[in-house]
Amino acid sequence: MDQVLRSLRLSGGSETRELENVASTSLGVPVVSCSSGTAGLILALRALGIESGEVITPALGFIASAHAIRAVGAQPRFCDVSKESLCCGVDELEAAWSPHVKAVMPVDLLGVPAPMVEIMEWAKSRGVAVIEDACEALGTQVDGTACGSLADAASFGFYPNKILTMGEGGLVACRDRALAERVRRFANQGRVGPGFAFSGEGYNFRLTEIQAALGRSQWSGLQQRLEDREKCARQYLDRIRSVPGIRPAPAPELTGNGQMRSWFAFVVILDQASWRDAVRQRLSESGIETGIYFPPITDYSPYDESDRADLSVTLDYSPRMLTLPLFPDLKEEEIEEVVSELGLALEFVR
Ligand SMILES: Cc1ncc(COP(=O)(O)O)c(C=O)c1O
Repeated sequence: MDQVLRSLRLSGGSETRELENVASTSLGVPVVSCSSGTAGLILALRALGIESGEVITPALGFIASAHAIRAVGAQPRFCDVSKESLCCGVDELEAAWSPHVKAVMPVDLLGVPAPMVEIMEWAKSRGVAVIEDACEALGTQVDGTACGSLADAASFGFYPNKILTMGEGGLVACRDRALAERVRRFANQGRVGPGFAFSGEGYNFRLTEIQAALGRSQWSGLQQRLEDREKCARQYLDRIRSVPGIRPAPAPELTGNGQMRSWFAFVVILDQASWRDAVRQRLSESGIETGIYFPPITDYSPYDESDRADLSVTLDYSPRMLTLPLFPDLKEEEIEEVVSELGLALEFVR
């Protein structure tokens, strides 16, 4: 960091290049850095030529996916998620299909991978682009393949609630170099060469050297962070099994060689949505902060008016989702305490 501050290069220098190289080696595809996960989604959409029509994305997720779609001039069309993963798969995308759809934006919710092999095959048959919102899934792997590396383009975010953070920041993983060059051009004012060489539209969505240095220094610790969070998540899973009234958020089991879930958050599903406020209140009184990942995007204007498929799984699960504290140095006794307090809170509300 000192080195960056002492250098005369605070943007577009060697730290940014190195971060992109490290990320590209880790993901196995070309990577372009940018200023946030949302910026990455916008860049991916623009570079794939999506500027009108509809983009299917799940209603259960973070509002940024929908904002990015609107920002490029397209409309989000909301699909439901599967009960097995809380991500959308081919069935949910197909159920939301319309002739105006030009792309789909599956989300790897809570670090759980959307079924990308099937989605890519389906998208090919439908002739639409796939932009994966992998903002919550850095480090997730399926059969040795990094999450975000199968789509046409995928965006990762580095806000402080993410597994690695640069304060703010993003990376776009691209299926090939040509697309990566288009993403880079859009991120940098349409610049096509040194000096004042511009062509086409663009933004200033660049990462700074300070952010890149932060990201690069943390990347070497990524595996450890993934493992530490997984250890905490497994301790939660073991303990909540015996707590009546809740179960872990559904997700395919990712264990063994070449499999890894990046535990962005640990979410439990309450049996009854009506318990959630009181449970949160009781936990808060015991000094335990909980969160809500996520209300349906369709709860918010302007998306409350958007076209959508049947959203029964989203509407059933979303109000029953409760996020428990999860960070790498959470101690086993603290997990024990959270689960015990959660059990007491549930006894009180049930
Ligand atoms: C699923 C998802 N998409 C997009 C974003 C946006 O990322 P950023 O905040 O870096 O713009 C987030 C961030 O929280 C996210 O969780």
